[in-house]
Amino acid sequence: MGTDSDKKKLFIGGEWKEGNDHYNLLSPYSGKVIAQVPLAEKDAVLTAIDCAERGAKEMRKLTALERSTILERAAALFQERLEECAFILTQENAKPLKAARGEILRTIETYKFAAEEAKRIHGETIPMDAAKNGKGRFAYTKREPLGVIAAITPFNFPFNLAAHKLGPAFAAGNAVILKPASQTPLSAIMAAQIFEEAGLPKGALNVVTGKGSVIGDVLVTDPRIKMVTFTGSVEVGLGIKEKAGLKKVTLELGSNSAVIIDSVDDLDAVAARCVEGSFAYSGQVCISIQRIYVQEDLHEAFLQKFAEKAKELTFGNPESEDTDLSALIHINEAKRVEGWIEAARAAGTEIVLGGTRTGAVLHPTIIKNAKPAEALSCQEAFAPIVSVNAYKTWDDAIDLVNDSLYGLQAGVYTTSMPKAFDAVDRLEVGGVIVNDIPSFRVDQMPYGGVKNSGTGREGVKYSVEEMTELKLAVFTL
Ligand code: SIN
Repeated sequence: MGTDSDKKKLFIGGEWKEGNDHYNLLSPYSGKVIAQVPLAEKDAVLTAIDCAERGAKEMRKLTALERSTILERAAALFQERLEECAFILTQENAKPLKAARGEILRTIETYKFAAEEAKRIHGETIPMDAAKNGKGRFAYTKREPLGVIAAITPFNFPFNLAAHKLGPAFAAGNAVILKPASQTPLSAIMAAQIFEEAGLPKGALNVVTGKGSVIGDVLVTDPRIKMVTFTGSVEVGLGIKEKAGLKKVTLELGSNSAVIIDSVDDLDAVAARCVEGSFAYSGQVCISIQRIYVQEDLHEAFLQKFAEKAKELTFGNPESEDTDLSALIHINEAKRVEGWIEAARAAGTEIVLGGTRTGAVLHPTIIKNAKPAEALSCQEAFAPIVSVNAYKTWDDAIDLVNDSLYGLQAGVYTTSMPKAFDAVDRLEVGGVIVNDIPSFRVDQMPYGGVKNSGTGREGVKYSVEEMTELKLAVFTL
């Protein structure tokens, strides 16, 4: 990989097909061409849907054990190619090598969970005689695959967030058309190679690459697609929901996640953990910490420790073993957030650390007491920037976290059990993480949000539920 003559292909119906037209894929860090990627046209997408329909029929014929075995083999192949996959990430989305390896390890685990889940998809018997008219009936439910699912994946975790869609879809016996983000097609192509080798039936996975809305529009409106699972921006998510008609839709959208620091035993450890949660992969994570609310008595001490730790982060080449932060996905993203920082400075807000950039690399930035109307307080940054704000009362802290259009996950540090339970009850989010950061995630837990953060849940078992239809059988005895 790494030359402009490296021309990629579409994966349709189990065959590698030349595209008519291509785009140059540039490394976000070096700006160099790393591959030429097909721009799938409408006809290619329609062919992929035909093939996926046939693939879905083959998937339905497989036993649970066969589906599980394919997923296990895929996990083993990812393990064998861990370094190769991690290198792809350093190239296509500038993920620093340490974090890239971490993502591949999670991808392996996600496919292993899917392999396990394939073996336990079941219904239940219904006590029909509990109703007067139910006497003499026996009923049970079963879960059936939907058929063809369109998976539209983001640039930030291109292996693992694709695994969160492919793994459960295959576990449940569906076929998938995968449309990766235009900046991260190489990981999707690698996933296709791996599933081909793992023995997935032809047509069960199709990868269509491209830019713009052509592919998405076909997938979202074609009646043969039974579900669209999307991770990405609110704007695109809303567009999908409007066009999808009666298709199932799950949307994992953004957030401006917050953590409350109420009372802690070890402020150093909490500061170090918040540095991880704020700056890992340069904040390009939906559950990255963007807002920290610290009880006013702890605020100055926390801020000082937090800034000291953040200063230790290194930034630069994603291929280097030591790099913590590298380029944002595009220089325009760095410039956008730079604009936010300038506006904050102009409004008299204190920039405690950073606020500068080298090309597309935005340096870790800490803002003290951001004003509620500032972009950083109310929009999603998706960048290495965080505000550290003092609050007075517990109720203030809850209100400040909830004062957001988003609601994915929130973190709460407190030594008080009643406050911890109160936070779980009152925070308007999909997940409350007590005594840790909102960025905590393991891949089998339910994951998803409320408000503009989306609808539906991922986490392998929960995605299987979304990707199957419940069927009822009633026997008259
Ligand atoms: C996301 O950005 O939504 C995914 C975060 C993660 O899986 O850790």
